[in-house]
Amino acid sequence: MKSALFSLFTLCAILPFLFLQHVSAGEEKDAGLLFERKCGTCHSIEKPKSRKKSKPEWEKTVMRMKNVNMAPISSAEARLIVDYLATSYGK
Ligand code: HEC
Repeated sequence: MKSALFSLFTLCAILPFLFLQHVSAGEEKDAGLLFERKCGTCHSIEKPKSRKKSKPEWEKTVMRMKNVNMAPISSAEARLIVDYLATSYGK
């Protein structure tokens, strides 16, 4: 009985971590998909992919796409895309 309780306790302690890890991995994949879906419509996706920028530079670029070139993305999507680009195409 004692060991059954202990296993239950361990399971409860570990589960949230497994779940969180799953969610953050999923989000990263979504950001990549979002980027490919939203940033390859006016020019080739290779345009951003061929560049390396720091996070503030990507922020500036994505905000210019959104506010000047009228890319159809929300502020929340812009943030996800900036994070993705800074991680995958950062310098
Ligand atoms: C509505 C059309 C449109 C969409 C959608 C769009 N772009 Fe652009 N993009 C442009 C135009 C027009 C230019 C050339 C003029 C300029 O640089 O602002 C450009 C140029 C660029 C450049 C080269 C210039 C530089 O500063 O390095 C990059 C990189 C870029 N876009 C990235 C992106 C990313 C990332 C996204 C997705 C968030 C995106 N674009 C979505 C229209 C678009």
